[in-house]
Amino acid sequence: MNPLLDRKRDAIAKMFSEIASRYDLMNHLLSGWLDVRWRKFAAEWLPASAQIVIDVGTGTGDFAFAALDKCKGATVIGIDLSEQMLKLARKKAANMGKDSQCQWLLADGLSLPFRDEIADAVVSAFVIRNFEDLTEGLREICRVLKRGGVAIILEFCQPPQSWWWTPIGLFVRYAVPLLGRFLSDAIAYSYLTASIQTFVPAEEVAEKLTLVGFRKVAWLPLTFSVATLFRAVK
Ligand SMILES: C[S@@+](CC[C@H](N)C(=O)[O-])C[C@H]1O[C@@H](n2cnc3c(N)ncnc32)[C@H](O)[C@@H]1O
Repeated sequence: MNPLLDRKRDAIAKMFSEIASRYDLMNHLLSGWLDVRWRKFAAEWLPASAQIVIDVGTGTGDFAFAALDKCKGATVIGIDLSEQMLKLARKKAANMGKDSQCQWLLADGLSLPFRDEIADAVVSAFVIRNFEDLTEGLREICRVLKRGGVAIILEFCQPPQSWWWTPIGLFVRYAVPLLGRFLSDAIAYSYLTASIQTFVPAEEVAEKLTLVGFRKVAWLPLTFSVATLFRAVK
């Protein structure tokens, strides 16, 4: 146990709980609804035959639901540090008539409450840059996957320095914190920009995926490198 890491994890859980009620709306507005398309596109890379899918950092559950659309007979287990986010996910699942296919757990992605090799697939969108220890988080994803299981990860990786001077880069750098301040929470949306600026580039995530035991690691920049899609097989 490291009290500093515990404190960072608690701060992240608190921050996401505070923005939970406006989280979906802000995502859609700030990305021009691209977030929906990215998750849908990413879910297409899942094996349709997957029976157990774990969504790490499920938030309000949208990646879990996209996974269910692709893997029709699956059960999705969404885990998250934020109780408020999970509450919204649970409510959405009920409204969509999908609650029998979903389970929601308050848990840490760095210490998943599952035995080894339980899942056919693990998905995770816009979460891994929040991990205090990226390698450990990826190792956990690998641990819970069956051999041949697939991890699909979406993330905002650090773009090249020059990217920040493109129109999209300037929007992320200046407009996102400003809009966050007026429409939701100043600290959370400044954190969003800062966490992209300080996260590792996609090449480094791919290297770490290989390091923790994945093979066939591939990645694809989406929408002028705003987001990156990773696919890795255990
Ligand atoms: C940016 S949101 C992404 C939510 C969702 N995956 C999506 O596609 O919209 C990040 C989520 O990851 C959760 N999270 C951050 N660190 C986590 C960790 N170590 N373990 C579990 N969940 C975590 C946060 O509480 C938050 O709900």
